[in-house]
Amino acid sequence: MAGRYETMHRRSLSEPESFWAEAARTLEWSREWDSVLSTGPDGRWQWFAGGEANTCWNALDRHVRDGRGEQLALIYDSPLTGSLRKLTYRELLEQTARFAGALTALGVGKGDRVLLYMPVIPEAVVAMLACARIGAIHSVVFGGFAAREVATRIIDAGPKLIVAASCGIEPNRVIPYMPVVDAAIEIAGGVPATCIVVQRDALKVELKPRRYHDWNDVMATAQPVDCVPVAATDPLYILYTSGTTGQPKGIVRPSGGHLVAMAWSLRHVFDAHAGETFWAASDIGWVVGHSYIVYAPLIAGCTTVLYEGKPVGTPDAGAFWRVIEDHKVTTMFTAPTAIRAIRREDSEAKLMGDYDISSLKALFLAGERCDPATLAWCEEKLARPIVDNWWQTETGWPIAANPLGIESFPVKYGSATKPIPGWQVQALDPKGMPVEPGQTGAIACKLPLPPGAASTLWNAPERYAKAYLEAFPGYYSTGDAGFIDADGYLHVMTRTDDVINVAGHRLSTGAIEEVIAGHSDIAECAVVGMPDSLKGQAPLGFLVLKAGINRPHAEIVAEIVKRVRDTMGAVVAFKTAIVVARLPKTRSGKILRGTIVKILSSEPYAMPGTIEDPAALAEIERDLNAAGLIIP
Ligand code: COA
Ligand code: AMP
Repeated sequence: MAGRYETMHRRSLSEPESFWAEAARTLEWSREWDSVLSTGPDGRWQWFAGGEANTCWNALDRHVRDGRGEQLALIYDSPLTGSLRKLTYRELLEQTARFAGALTALGVGKGDRVLLYMPVIPEAVVAMLACARIGAIHSVVFGGFAAREVATRIIDAGPKLIVAASCGIEPNRVIPYMPVVDAAIEIAGGVPATCIVVQRDALKVELKPRRYHDWNDVMATAQPVDCVPVAATDPLYILYTSGTTGQPKGIVRPSGGHLVAMAWSLRHVFDAHAGETFWAASDIGWVVGHSYIVYAPLIAGCTTVLYEGKPVGTPDAGAFWRVIEDHKVTTMFTAPTAIRAIRREDSEAKLMGDYDISSLKALFLAGERCDPATLAWCEEKLARPIVDNWWQTETGWPIAANPLGIESFPVKYGSATKPIPGWQVQALDPKGMPVEPGQTGAIACKLPLPPGAASTLWNAPERYAKAYLEAFPGYYSTGDAGFIDADGYLHVMTRTDDVINVAGHRLSTGAIEEVIAGHSDIAECAVVGMPDSLKGQAPLGFLVLKAGINRPHAEIVAEIVKRVRDTMGAVVAFKTAIVVARLPKTRSGKILRGTIVKILSSEPYAMPGTIEDPAALAEIERDLNAAGLIIP
């Protein structure tokens, strides 16, 4: 007999309209949809067309109306500043409605874009929800990105206003944000002219009169405003993510589908419920932060924890367990990297013993492949369900996981368990035919994608088609490769493109190469992801110098490292590069990145038949050996 999961998964694919309409009815719509699933003006699938619902209403107002006003909505726990703030649903609603009024007074309306450059502080959540309240589209840029990256996003999104904080705080330094914002606005040609700035205690900045407004000043005079109806097919936000070039992709999140996916996934994938405390230890600049720090927990009526700290060093490797005890966290979400960092410092989890973590039901891990050793350590030390879940910025919520809210499956190390209802996942051969169980292929999802997943890119619908839809007609191509085993478990192994994953952060090697290539001494370069025991991967640069450059190599490498950090940001963590005589290539000029990575990890590799000159590969191996970069 089919189990609950199998029945649900099958029904989600055979009767998607009734399946998702049922899920949508758990939310409040100001206008019911005309059709659950239809074809949009761009010829792609769309969910709930004709329907109108406000995400902020569903995340705040209705909970206060229904008696949840005095429950905590948000706990801001910041070991980096030594502060703790708690906001009830009523307080969060009051601040959000007021800030929405401030935005309105500054001329922001429905469909306008607002760029947020903020650390993990309550004001960031207020700003996101305030945009949703008035139908403005937010675009949050992660604080670890430098001015050029912010500028690229300003130019593409065309925001009417920027909301920023005076600084971000890292364990060893305060990072002034306004010089980055100023420089980005200048690169973008002087727009947008208006900024609202949260002045943090760690750094008060002088604000340019008329152009920059103090958050407290605008809040003091603002009048709260109500929610406006937002079409289900209108964007809630744009979130930029790395593609294979220097131009990031602006993922557009459809408002109505997202609302449904958030509510449904929190219950069925995460098994989290109203009144519980959900903690995603991520940053609001990433999709995990959007979905599972801000939207899903609030839409579901949970208390969400906003943690401004690190897994280690703030103050020690017991930080996560301390937060679980202090706030009675029931469900936690983090990246495997964070667990590796804790395990490296406290391999026996001695610090866990100092805290009462009995409230914790389950730990979810995502953002990168979860290595079996990390999973095994968590299982042993936590003795609760540990759920590796696989998804992407594009999808907004898990494609595969152990769906604890539906049925709990035995864990297989290295697998994100099963496709979630709504997702029809297949491993395909190069011709687009499903491969046999256990055989590796390109992982693709049959169209239409379920509610919440992006179906276009901001300003670039054709780029969406090219990046995701053209490789396998009828499918969304994920860019990941792996296999489905005989039990239907999905194993995601690697990317098929030049995207790397550093500490759960998605980066484009192509974008780093573009920055390196701009250095006047560089003739040619390549960047690969080298295996890293903490961060999963770390970027490694290969530099070919122009003829006649005789400066010390160490000097050039230092300049390149600084150039990448200054241009793209510290989060790229580009620290290692070597100068080589030439790059190993195929006869058609493709750099043999995959083979280089195999050499780096001492894996056996076959000499590619298409190689231009086998000696080039031997030279690289020699250079990597000399630099001590090969992992034995
Ligand atoms: N603003 C400015 N700089 C930032 C930043 C921010 N918001 N976040 C990170 N940086 C900087 C760091 O200070 C570091 O700078 P450094 O080179 O001067 O040391 C650099 O960017 C790289 O940061 P990070 O990748 O975080 O490495 P780390 O060595 O500081 O910390 C970990 C290692 C494992 C503790 C950390 O990567 C971590 O907590 N990872 C979890 C990942 C995660 O939550 N991912 C989200 C997806 S779920
Ligand atoms: P991002 O869009 O930043 O969330 O990155 C998405 C990419 O991270 C995916 O396409 C995968 O390559 C990788 N990824 C995320 N979660 C997992 C996981 N659980 N297992 C394997 N890879 C993952």
